[in-house]
Amino acid sequence: MRYVAILPIVLTLTAFILSMLCLFAGSKPGYLEQANLLTLNTSMLGHNVVNAPKTSSKTLNSIGNSVQKDINKAASDVAKAINIHDFYSVHVLDFCEGYYTPSPIANTSSTPAKNVTSCSNQTALFHFDATAILQQELKKGINLTELQWPSAVQDGIRAAALASKVMFVVYCIGTTTTALSFIGALISLFALGRLSALVNLAVSMFACFCLMVASATATGIINRIVEIVNAHGTDIGLSATKGTTFIGMTWSADLLMLLVSFVWLFFFFKGRKEEMSYVPEGKEVY
Ligand SMILES: *[C@@H]1O[C@H](CO)[C@@H](O)[C@H](O)[C@H]1NC(C)=O
Ligand SMILES: *[C@@H]1O[C@H](CO)[C@@H](O)[C@H](O)[C@H]1NC(C)=O
Ligand SMILES: *[C@@H]1O[C@H](CO)[C@@H](O)[C@H](O)[C@H]1NC(C)=O
Repeated sequence: MRYVAILPIVLTLTAFILSMLCLFAGSKPGYLEQANLLTLNTSMLGHNVVNAPKTSSKTLNSIGNSVQKDINKAASDVAKAINIHDFYSVHVLDFCEGYYTPSPIANTSSTPAKNVTSCSNQTALFHFDATAILQQELKKGINLTELQWPSAVQDGIRAAALASKVMFVVYCIGTTTTALSFIGALISLFALGRLSALVNLAVSMFACFCLMVASATATGIINRIVEIVNAHGTDIGLSATKGTTFIGMTWSADLLMLLVSFVWLFFFFKGRKEEMSYVPEGKEVY
């Protein structure tokens, strides 16, 4: 038994678990909700239109009147009035939605907490199409364009569709090769030599590369969408926050695989050095 192989075993197992959690976070309401890519805060979406003296839409006018009556409640929840949710959190395979409790707006005595009410079905090659999702939920008779939904947000989210698909595929390859890397490390517990170190080095470097591309794509999508939403959404009460937990988890998994690659590189060179000094005497390598 080569007990030094325990180090890459532990590291690859941790990287594998982390990348699986990145993939399957949000698979049911509340499950690893904090590991989302980003959260859209729609709790005040439409407040500008609803509170405007006269809008072109009858439905919006009547909602406006009922919300106005509610005005004493500091944070009258416009989202509920127009039938949408307070927030939409995006995950790799699905999205979750829910309401902020006790209220969407923080004050001195309470901070908003997410209460997830449902998550969409997990689908491969998932892409979060906010425009379609919101339009579908909106109260009959209200149109997103009436809420002055910015076209820049729509375009930005649409532009991320291809990147989302690439991200999913690379995550799958990265997670699979991380699993292979774990199996390779297990095998080397019984057969650690230069060849096994070399094979393991190649597999873990490839896993590291895939997780790096996946993490970079995810980070790019997150930064881009959050930037666009916050630049164009403030006026209509729309905002977005980055999922820093997710970003931390995905890069940690990648960093672990980089570490594993260095471990195998070290074993490979160590093996070669020992081979050069021991082989003439006919001793076993390592
Ligand atoms: C803070 O918000 C909560 C929930 O909306 C409310 O019950 C509470 O009275 C508010 N406190 C202050 C100081 O405004
Ligand atoms: C949600 O957005 C509203 C309006 O932009 C903001 O006042 C509120 O603090 C946000 N709530 C959370 C929990 O981010
Ligand atoms: C969360 O939502 C569910 C269903 O709407 C509700 O029953 C529950 O009381 C809520 N939890 C909190 C803490 O408000």
